[in-house]
Amino acid sequence: MTEKITLTIDGREVTTEQGKTLLEIARENGIDIPTICFHEATTANAVCRICVVEVEGQRVLQPACIVKAGAGMKVQTRSEKVVRSRRTILEMLASTMDLSEAPDIQQMMYEYGASSSRFPDAERRETDVKDDNPMYIRDYSKCLLCWRCVQVCADDAQYTFAINFDGRGYETQIGTFFDKTIPETSCVLCGQCVGVCPTGALKPKREFLLELGKTPDEISVLNTGRKNRSKVKGQRS
Ligand code: SF4
Ligand code: FES
Repeated sequence: MTEKITLTIDGREVTTEQGKTLLEIARENGIDIPTICFHEATTANAVCRICVVEVEGQRVLQPACIVKAGAGMKVQTRSEKVVRSRRTILEMLASTMDLSEAPDIQQMMYEYGASSSRFPDAERRETDVKDDNPMYIRDYSKCLLCWRCVQVCADDAQYTFAINFDGRGYETQIGTFFDKTIPETSCVLCGQCVGVCPTGALKPKREFLLELGKTPDEISVLNTGRKNRSKVKGQRS
């Protein structure tokens, strides 16, 4: 039988099974902790640090998505230090990348009073859209390196290993080996990476083309090489 432990979150005593993370326990008890890199389908790696909480006796803030609850812990999820830290993380993201298609993060910015112009001299991540396959486009100017796409492509789901981290330090980005195009990699176009991307950096090709103003018939021609979609559906010429 799993041992029960009791801890305090935001002044409230909660009893839970040992082995759970602070994030799990908070959510079970209706306490909201924001997350960005965390996804139910992937292994938590604590990359973004938006979920940090204050634990009494700990010198630094702790990422709730990976830190396991301990008996007697005293946790604060909205202390001044926590809120300031989350706000700064959001401001750094907004200063360096395009968040225009990340509504959840935009909502967090509003909630935490984060300013997108706090770091005006920050170097922005700007890249051309990579449009090299029939299934999805990659716009890494919108990528916050949450790692979810790499994880589902690897051993969290698909075991395809088509994409990974590329480069170092500020130059780090998601890429393919030797910067090959997607059709030249082991990618099977399963679309799982697109499904877990929180920022629109990975987007279905169809959606991308519709946004560019292409009609469904034009998209059909682009994707399949067919001359006219209505004829394929049975109309006589
Ligand atoms: S492309 Fe999307 S899922 Fe992949 S690391 Fe960037 S933001 Fe995360
Ligand atoms: S959600 Fe916990 S570190 Fe990103």
